[in-house]
Amino acid sequence: MGNVFDLSGKTAIVTGAGRGIGRVIAMGLAESGADVVLCSRTQAQVDAVADEIRKKGGKALPVVTDLTVHEQLENLVDATVGEFGRIDILVNNAARSFLRGLLDLREDGWDKCFNTNVKAVWLLSRLVARRMIEQKEGKIINITTVGAEKAEAGMAAYGCSKAALKHLTRCMAREWAPLGINVNAVAPGFTRTDFSKPIWSSPDVEKLICQVIPKGRIAEPEDVVGAVLFLASSAADYITGDTIYVDGGTMTS
Ligand SMILES: NC(=O)c1ccc[n+]([C@@H]2O[C@H](COP(=O)([O-])OP(=O)(O)OC[C@H]3O[C@@H](n4cnc5c(N)ncnc54)[C@H](OP(=O)(O)O)[C@@H]3O)[C@@H](O)[C@H]2O)c1
Repeated sequence: MGNVFDLSGKTAIVTGAGRGIGRVIAMGLAESGADVVLCSRTQAQVDAVADEIRKKGGKALPVVTDLTVHEQLENLVDATVGEFGRIDILVNNAARSFLRGLLDLREDGWDKCFNTNVKAVWLLSRLVARRMIEQKEGKIINITTVGAEKAEAGMAAYGCSKAALKHLTRCMAREWAPLGINVNAVAPGFTRTDFSKPIWSSPDVEKLICQVIPKGRIAEPEDVVGAVLFLASSAADYITGDTIYVDGGTMTS
């Protein structure tokens, strides 16, 4: 069978790769042999991750991209194909959130969540899928969240957008399976990044959160990577439309 997890010769795009979970996913893909294209809006962050990958002997291309601007999505795809000639793996990881109750949430906050977390994923995946169809294979992995299933106070715009992303994952999987493209989701639970810092930065709040996680701790970004590498690999060739929860058992209750 060979090493079914080997990604040598593959090219991957990771959105939101400048920090947090996306950074660690990009590093993991590179360590598995893939050439990695790193996108976010912050040049210094994607440059730093690209340098880290190159120092370890991998190939990386940072492409500054605002995912909510369509022309920049086209540039990201063109730059990837220009540098590496193909796209085998797309990890839609970047996301926006606002911690605000429904009575106070601004309309543009709702729009920013949906534009980044749903619309940009559809538009970028469609651009990438057109390349993957020519290759007759490809893997798309969307990062959702347990918040797509559980209603958390103050997280409605984010949770609703991620619930839509979960369904978009199934729709893309259904339409594109006959074309050779697998589309799945990885849904982390609470993970220690800047994104969730306003919540875990208080030790008392962290203690309360850990009480409802069966594994008894918040995830580290490294906890999420294995599921992404599995779905990106040939070990997952017959899996599509699914979600893997990386949540320390949170979804059991
Ligand atoms: N942390 C958690 O507790 C947790 C739990 C469940 C699921 N998740 C999911 O995991 C994923 C990663 O989260 P994280 O915690 O690693 O977040 P993070 O540390 O805030 O990183 C988010 C990344 O997305 C990028 N980004 C945001 N808007 C963008 C845009 N319009 N265009 C391009 N890039 C953009 C950010 O870069 P710039 O701002 O520089 O553009 C950054 O690199 C998200 O999908 C999130 O929903 C996180």
